[in-house]
Amino acid sequence: MKNLIKRLPRPYSPHNDNTIKLSAFAHLRETLNMSFKEQIQQGIPTELPSPKQYDSSINHAPKRKDILSVEEKKLALRNALRYFDVKHHTTLLPEFKNELETYGRIYMYRLRPEYEMYARPISEYPGKCEQAKAIQLMIQNNLDYAVAQHPHELITYGGNGAVFQNWAQYLLTMKYLSQMTEEQTLVMYSGHPQGLFPSHKDAPRVVVTNGMMIPNYSKQDDWEKFNALGVTQYGQMTAGSYMYIGPQGIVHGTTITLLNGFRKINKATKGGLFVTSGLGGMSGAQPKAGNIAGCVTVCAEVNKKATETRHSQGWVDEVISDLDELSSRVKEAIANKKTVSIAYDGNVVDVWEKFDKDNVYIDLGSDQTSLHNPWAGGYYPVGLTYEESNEMMVSNPEAFKAEVQKSLVRQAEAINKHTAKGTYFFDYGNAFLLEASRAGADVLDTKNPMREFRYPSYVQDIMGPMCFDYGFGPFRWVCTSGNPEDLQKTDKIACEVLEEMKKTSPPEIQQQMTDNIQWIKGAQENKLVVGSQARILYADAEGRMKIATAFNDAISKGKIGLVVLGRDHHDVSGTDSPYRETSNIYDGSQFTADMAIQNVIGDSFRGATWVSIHNGGGVGWGEVINGGFGMVIDGSKDAQRRLESMLYWDVNNGISRRSWARNNEAVFAIKRAMKKNPMLQVTLPNFVDDELINKM
Ligand SMILES: NC(=O)c1ccc[n+]([C@@H]2O[C@H](COP(=O)([O-])OP(=O)(O)OC[C@H]3O[C@@H](n4cnc5c(N)ncnc54)[C@H](O)[C@@H]3O)[C@@H](O)[C@H]2O)c1
Repeated sequence: MKNLIKRLPRPYSPHNDNTIKLSAFAHLRETLNMSFKEQIQQGIPTELPSPKQYDSSINHAPKRKDILSVEEKKLALRNALRYFDVKHHTTLLPEFKNELETYGRIYMYRLRPEYEMYARPISEYPGKCEQAKAIQLMIQNNLDYAVAQHPHELITYGGNGAVFQNWAQYLLTMKYLSQMTEEQTLVMYSGHPQGLFPSHKDAPRVVVTNGMMIPNYSKQDDWEKFNALGVTQYGQMTAGSYMYIGPQGIVHGTTITLLNGFRKINKATKGGLFVTSGLGGMSGAQPKAGNIAGCVTVCAEVNKKATETRHSQGWVDEVISDLDELSSRVKEAIANKKTVSIAYDGNVVDVWEKFDKDNVYIDLGSDQTSLHNPWAGGYYPVGLTYEESNEMMVSNPEAFKAEVQKSLVRQAEAINKHTAKGTYFFDYGNAFLLEASRAGADVLDTKNPMREFRYPSYVQDIMGPMCFDYGFGPFRWVCTSGNPEDLQKTDKIACEVLEEMKKTSPPEIQQQMTDNIQWIKGAQENKLVVGSQARILYADAEGRMKIATAFNDAISKGKIGLVVLGRDHHDVSGTDSPYRETSNIYDGSQFTADMAIQNVIGDSFRGATWVSIHNGGGVGWGEVINGGFGMVIDGSKDAQRRLESMLYWDVNNGISRRSWARNNEAVFAIKRAMKKNPMLQVTLPNFVDDELINKM
């Protein structure tokens, strides 16, 4: 109650008439008397809450492009108002119009709940089934202020990765979840809860689609337009699927990438230099991963707020604003083989150019600006201040686009100079090479028909052949009790399972087993939890099933509470993305999305608690289809049956496709899987002699 009173909204200016004041205060009085559970159960309140003042202490989404015509704006307002009783329309219309004009979207700020947003223990959620309560927990985690990038705009990460389009959708969804039984399924259309439909116990409790467009309407501006109209959203990967676990997932993925990257160039991480950019939602994990791997990391960031956040969280050790100082600090750290991460407070292009001029040798180089969203705040061009860019992208989008493209060309030129000296540069799945090539930068591979760009993506060289093709990917779990001791117990269980498996694992996957055992042993010490009590590690199908089975057993014995199993969409089978997850597929099928669609369909009838399929995560709207699942295990026999059936398919589907694409590692993995389970029969490729083909 105290918290609630402290957070009372301040008086609001433009539309404050007496009616609003009276009804708002009536609502407030009512809310103050309501428990958290009752507030969830009420959904959209019958009396409107008082308007909220824009809180500038919070990180907000940039103003979106003014893309709608006058008639389309009317449509967007009509669309927004359909969530509300007609008696509220005259009050809400000017407010929503103002939001649309000021921010380019209608977020319905007024509806943002008063209670604190975080993943509570599952017992604190209202509901008729544990599965639906667990989903409420996962949704709140994605909107937790400590977790989400723009919490008031319901954006979890990546600049536009939305959980919902507006607060009415949030309220309504939570209400449905609090009402649903095990005989119903909630249908989510891009953040909008279509409703509860009768189904059955083994069906998913929630089916999520995000940004599913008719293919010809899947360009960047289509997202701007249809999102502004309120009919679709960019769900990213784990934002709109309620499976984000804070930066831990990306810390792990980046650590694995860096370790394997240094192995690839035969260089020890100690005394090695990694240069990159971005201290945002995902990119902010890079310096921490660099520290875990043991190298020197330089990460440039133009947004001071993002730098301050990561520095205050201890995710980056030092902040330097002067290029000369940066150069000498880095040289000294390399010479002394220090493990240190340094944020450069400025543009990454300046760092690449300065290090070239000063002959600072870079071992590994990458980039993690948000180039999946290049024209609306994902990439800040060199030569403009952060503020100037933010202003220009709205007032003169065409000129801004030109600046971005000029900057990308300059960045690529500087990178090319470094790679000529020996730097290993990789695209980090943020569409850097794609956008740089579109800008006319010299990044195309003219010699190798198998590769479009002169630099590999991290999946082509590292993650694909070393992890995904063997079935290793980002398995994760959340302890729904919220008790850190449960997480500790699950860490121990997972470690024991992996150590046991490692004894008989073939040499091909020993390195992955070792890396992940080391990771899980250090996980508690590295204090990776932000938000829910969650853990990630890379495991193959067998590892995931064995770990999940051991958890289910521990739950049935009352040793731990219920667990949510899941994974990042960025995995073996979940994502079709020709410039990222499937960039190491070379049979032409990297431009198809059958695997991701098959995966989500297959997961849904094999026992997933919720499934999701999205257009646009990671590399951009129209560039990728990605899907995922969540599965609540409760120690029951039903849970055991479901986890065995679904996890097996969820990994082997992708391995079979990778094997059909003639990836040797995947052929090895699928043959091994078939040997263990005669029910699995996969079509294997025949390899054609290159000489025969070339003679043609
Ligand atoms: N490879 C992977 O596994 C993986 C995982 C997650 C995200 N990504 C991709 O990485 C990108 C970043 O994700 P995010 O969640 O961190 O996004 P974000 O928008 O939160 O962070 C990007 C940061 O880059 C900064 N920036 C932009 N231009 C800059 C410049 N020229 N110089 C210095 N800083 C600049 C921005 O200020 C921002 O803070 C996205 O495109 C995302 O899709 C890749």
